[in-house]
Amino acid sequence: MQHRISSFLFTLLTLVSYLHRSSSRPEPFALRISCGARQNVKTQPTNTQWSKDFAYTGGHPANASISSYIAPPLKTLRYFPLSDGPENCYNLNRVPRGHYAVRIFYGVVKDPNFGDEPLFDVSIEGTHVYSLKSGWSSVEDQSFSEALLFVKDGLVSVCFHSTGHGDPAVLSIEVLQIDDKGYVLGTNWGDGVILRTVKRLACGRGKPGFDADYGGDPWGGDRYWGPIQTFGQSGDRARSTESVIKKASVIPNFYTQKIYQHALVSTDGKPDLDYTLDVEPNRNYSVLLHFAEIDEAVTEAGQRVFDILINGDVAFKDVDVFRMAGDRFTALVLNKTVPVNGRSLTITMHPTKGNHAFVNAIEIFEVIPAEYRTSIEEVRALQALKGALGLPLRFGWNGDPCVPQDHPWSGVDCQFDKANNIWVIDGLGLDNQGLWGSLPNDMSKLHHLQSLNLSGNSIQGPIPSTLGTITSLETLDLSFNMFNGSIPETIGQLTSLRTLNLNSNLLSGKVPAALGGRLLHRASFNFTANAGLCGMPGLPSCGPHLSTGAKIGIAFAVLIAVALIVTCSACWWKRRQNILRAQKIASRDAPYAKARTHFSRDVQMSRHHGQENSRTATENGPTLLS
Ligand SMILES: *[C@@H]1O[C@H](CO)[C@@H](O)[C@H](O)[C@H]1NC(C)=O
Ligand SMILES: *[C@@H]1O[C@H](CO)[C@@H](O)[C@H](O)[C@H]1NC(C)=O
Ligand SMILES: *[C@@H]1O[C@H](CO)[C@@H](O)[C@H](O)[C@H]1NC(C)=O
Ligand SMILES: *[C@@H]1O[C@H](CO)[C@@H](O)[C@H](O)[C@H]1NC(C)=O
Ligand SMILES: *[C@@H]1O[C@H](CO)[C@@H](O)[C@H](O)[C@H]1NC(C)=O
Ligand SMILES: *[C@@H]1O[C@H](CO)[C@@H](O)[C@H](O)[C@H]1NC(C)=O
Repeated sequence: MQHRISSFLFTLLTLVSYLHRSSSRPEPFALRISCGARQNVKTQPTNTQWSKDFAYTGGHPANASISSYIAPPLKTLRYFPLSDGPENCYNLNRVPRGHYAVRIFYGVVKDPNFGDEPLFDVSIEGTHVYSLKSGWSSVEDQSFSEALLFVKDGLVSVCFHSTGHGDPAVLSIEVLQIDDKGYVLGTNWGDGVILRTVKRLACGRGKPGFDADYGGDPWGGDRYWGPIQTFGQSGDRARSTESVIKKASVIPNFYTQKIYQHALVSTDGKPDLDYTLDVEPNRNYSVLLHFAEIDEAVTEAGQRVFDILINGDVAFKDVDVFRMAGDRFTALVLNKTVPVNGRSLTITMHPTKGNHAFVNAIEIFEVIPAEYRTSIEEVRALQALKGALGLPLRFGWNGDPCVPQDHPWSGVDCQFDKANNIWVIDGLGLDNQGLWGSLPNDMSKLHHLQSLNLSGNSIQGPIPSTLGTITSLETLDLSFNMFNGSIPETIGQLTSLRTLNLNSNLLSGKVPAALGGRLLHRASFNFTANAGLCGMPGLPSCGPHLSTGAKIGIAFAVLIAVALIVTCSACWWKRRQNILRAQKIASRDAPYAKARTHFSRDVQMSRHHGQENSRTATENGPTLLS
């Protein structure tokens, strides 16, 4: 009976807490992708839903061999051969604004022809978060990476960067919303910082587990807790309890009570409890320590007090868990962010009262300053160029062009604009890459371009006149292509231009006059081997230069001249016809007229022959004059 009632009460309590939870807030956003999967997948025992593969930029699906015990039991993965480009991404959009845990499990292709585990770099939102270490596929908590970040723009981009050690292969990607106040560590985590999970240890536990396995709240992000039964010293031992832990699953981090029900405790022989982890040097690390006094022997404050040192420096002095938590079986979380210069991070619990120190769980994060991104306008311009020139896959223009800084897009030179905290493109070198198509007008959005080399491709069509608006352009090499039409006048306005190679194209027409003046200032221009350029030293001259007005004038004059000629010819013809007609009439019935005709002929002759003939005229005179 007693048992029935308590069980009933427990059910009621669970129901109330469930109702409270579900009424106070919705479920967190959760997106889980099974990479390479053609269908949605469900995995047991937690009945977890995985979406079929989407939002990737390339790669190939393949069967996966599960690399670790803790990896989700998914059958497929996606891998990215280097021939398809060194940068590959998943671009997930419509992710609600908020804080997220992004987790990526890596995979190994199930095919004897593939080499061993691949080694590659991983970036999230353009920030390099992790480089896979050799041997990862045999270390459970190295078969995935997790990072905590703030998503503002609805987009999460996760990219895999080849390093020449096999083809990156990914089993799953999870984007799990966590509480907006979760993991506030006194640093400016959120906007400018990404926390990479380095370690989560459930001290004194024997088996690994996820929050979901422990019945944890989904707002905690389904954390993975690695088991550890000794810190590697003879002087520690595991302790555990079944008792309920108070203040465990509370806002904002919802730590499940399971992690507080076990602990590692130091022994009489060695009162200090030390945990050491190998880390990357010269980084900042955040350490979260979880405590709950689960020793029945401790009954009041002051019985067990210890200092906590991180790499020898006191991080917390006189920690009295009983006092600070307010009771036994009550959770306490302490956190500290420290710079680490060396390759190891050591946490020491050093008793000052009582002989034993203890700890229930440890979380360690690397604090990574988030990279600034590339100007979105310039990214779009590059994407337009990628499409217009049919850039081959091997370029791998995916993700952000400039970041992570160790993996920029090939052929793209970047510069950091300190005034605006933004990356900009200052150079493009795509020479001899077998590119075709024509240049998009949008190229002019690359406002910071200083050098553009597209030499030795098969690019057709006109040189966009908008290129003339990139005022920073110093070097423009479009030689050995198939550009046609004329050189835009706007190119003449590029006052910084020092090298202009347009040789070996199909250009014609007059070279902008403004370029001529520039030649004097040590500029190097090459216009040779084109279809018909003119008007520069070394090129044919373009002939007289006529304005439109002049051309109209000339056309008008020609028209008048033609009209005059036509009129004159008409007059002459008419006159000739008249004469002929007159002659005909005279020869028929008019001697008078004939005489007159004779006279006129005689007069003409006299004019030609002078004095001799004038006599004849005089002789016939009277008849003629009457
Ligand atoms: C994956 O395995 C299935 C059988 O389980 C097989 O039918 C399929 O062809 C495999 N796919 C690849 C890409 O090897
Ligand atoms: C970390 O410690 C600071 C005080 O030092 C506290 O304000 C903050 O809430 C703690 N964060 C967590 C996640 O415990
Ligand atoms: C570590 O944190 C300090 C103080 O916030 C900061 O000045 C320093 O740049 C950080 N170092 C790294 C490597 O992020
Ligand atoms: C452009 O690339 C070609 C081919 O690689 C090279 O010969 C030429 O010097 C480059 N142009 C400039 C201006 O650097
Ligand atoms: C330039 O070449 C394209 C074909 O590549 C042609 O359609 C266009 O008319 C040409 N333009 C000029 C000005 O010759
Ligand atoms: C222009 O380039 C051609 C190669 O296409 C070269 O032979 C020529 O010497 C260059 N002319 C000038 C003036 O630099």
